[in-house]
Order: sequence, then C-alpha cells, then structure tokens
Amino acid sequence: MINNWQYKQYSTGVTVVSDVIVQYDGAKGVYTVSLVDDYDVFVKRVHIKSGLDLTNYKRPQMERRIRTLMRSQGVNDLTAYFQLLERDANQYRKFIDHITINVSEFLRNPGQWEVLSQKILPLLLKTNQRLKIWSAGCSTGEEPYSLVITLLESRCDLGNQVLATDLDREVLRKAQIGLYAAKSLANFPAPLIKKYFEDQGGGYYRVKEMVKRHVKFQSHNLLKDRFETGFDLILCRNVVIYFTEETKTLLYQRFCQALCKGGILFTGSTEQIFQARELGLNSAATFFYQKA
Ligand SMILES: C[S@@+](CC[C@H](N)C(=O)[O-])C[C@H]1O[C@@H](n2cnc3c(N)ncnc32)[C@H](O)[C@@H]1O
Repeated sequence: MINNWQYKQYSTGVTVVSDVIVQYDGAKGVYTVSLVDDYDVFVKRVHIKSGLDLTNYKRPQMERRIRTLMRSQGVNDLTAYFQLLERDANQYRKFIDHITINVSEFLRNPGQWEVLSQKILPLLLKTNQRLKIWSAGCSTGEEPYSLVITLLESRCDLGNQVLATDLDREVLRKAQIGLYAAKSLANFPAPLIKKYFEDQGGGYYRVKEMVKRHVKFQSHNLLKDRFETGFDLILCRNVVIYFTEETKTLLYQRFCQALCKGGILFTGSTEQIFQARELGLNSAATFFYQKA
C-alpha cells in the first residue's frame, strides 16, 4: 500500500522553495521524496476541473501525449496550457478527446469475436439464457453494437439491454447517434452491413434501431464510480493499457466482484492478466477470464 502526502517547504527570507511529495511504500517500508513539478500541478488542476485523476495513468505516455498536444496548439508550458483549457471550451474538448484515446472499430480483433461467438457465448448460455452484459470504456459505440449484432446473429435472448459506459460524454453522444464511416465496419461481411446498418451515402452508415434499442449508454468513470454487480459478461478492452499497474490490479479486482460466478471478463488483445489466479479468475480462452 502506497501512501502519498504533500507539504510545502519554506526557506527563510525567500518565498516557497518547492512542494514535496513524500511517498511511503508500506510493503517495502521505504520512503521516497520527490519535488512536485509542473506536470503534477497540471494533473491536480485537471482532476479538480474534470474529475479525471491522471495519476492513475502511466505518466510517461500520458505526459508525452499532453505535451505534444499542448505544443501543437502553440503553447509551451503547462501553466499557460491549463489557463487556455479554462477559457476555451473547444480546447478543453480537444484535450479530453486526446487524452482519453477514443479509437475503436467494429469487431476489433475479429479472431477474439469469433471465440466469443463460438465458445464463450455457448458456455454462458448453458446456465443462463438472458445475459447481463457490460461494455466498459465503450468509446463511440462500436464495441456494444458489435456485441448486440453478435448476439442477434447467435439468436440469443436480448431481454436485457447491454450496459455501455464511458467517462467521456462526447463519445457517448456519438455512440447514441450511431453514424460510422465505412472503414470502421470493414470487419463485417457485406450481408451483415446490409442487415444492421442504413447506408447514409457519402461512405457513412447508421446503425439500425433494431440494434440500438438493445444498448443503454451511460456516463461512468471506472476509477471513481460504483460498479453494478451480477454481470455474466464484461468487456473492458483497450482501456486499462493506459493505467498504472496498481490501478489495473484494483480495477480487475472490481470487475471480478461485479461478475457473477462463472461470468466472463473479455479483455483487449494486449491485455493479459498475469495475476488472474490470485484474483479468482481462470482462463476460459486467450483474453477471456472466467470467475471461479
Ligand atoms: C481506446 S478506447 C477503447 C474502445 C473499445 N473498448 C475498443 O476496444 O475498441 C478507450 C476508451 O476508454 C475510455 N476511458 C479511459 N479512461 C476511462 C475511465 N477512467 N473510465 C471510463 N472510461 C475510460 C476512453 O474515454 C475511451 O473511450
């Protein structure tokens, strides 16, 4: 368990020397002391403004992304950049888009979706015909809509709406509209595109109401908000890759608690859970973990 606390150091005669973070790692019995830099201050301000705690995300990648975006907007320091975010809603929107990394596509990593429909769904349906499902970090909706289409094609009972959540309200707005460029549908065979999407012209397709009505989109921060429980299937794919190891473990514990016995956690193609056993998860297939 790592505890963090901060205090200001003052020197006589001069003003503030610096803020200092003292970290105590209880497991190792070790203290580390580091100076608060402009990035820490920026992160704290973003937390207060948006509720998004960037200390849970891997710093090197996150800082690089933020500084690259900041420079591309003609700003050279984080204090000035935060001021810009405070006064310019478009810049703030751009910042949130950039750091949350919303890229998605239908049937992302098609081989895994094949495993889902051929192996995992039949396994779950053996004990329960009406599945409770959550797509966590659903971005612009490609993942929950892919799921509903897979369920419809497998002739599953869709009595329960699929819960689809993301922290970013703007991606949820897009998800609800359900309009996509043809290239994001490339993993679907043409007959399925015809069946489940309306061609809007100009290379755009809109997901049909028969799919939409099975998804309930909701704003939800995985690092802050309460988790519903009793899920048979949770998809959390390409979300935790940006989190620190400590945050990832905590999140997997919470997913495990949110699953019912025998429920499955479906992760992204780079997201193997190495401590699965300790968390009470068994491998059901690569990137599919079953609660013991
Ligand atoms: C790369 S997209 C993944 C979309 C989809 N799951 C897929 O695999 O194609 C990552 C999504 O995670 C969301 N996200 C990041 N941090 C989050 C958090 N703390 N709580 C909820 N969603 C979060 C982002 O807003 C973004 O839409």
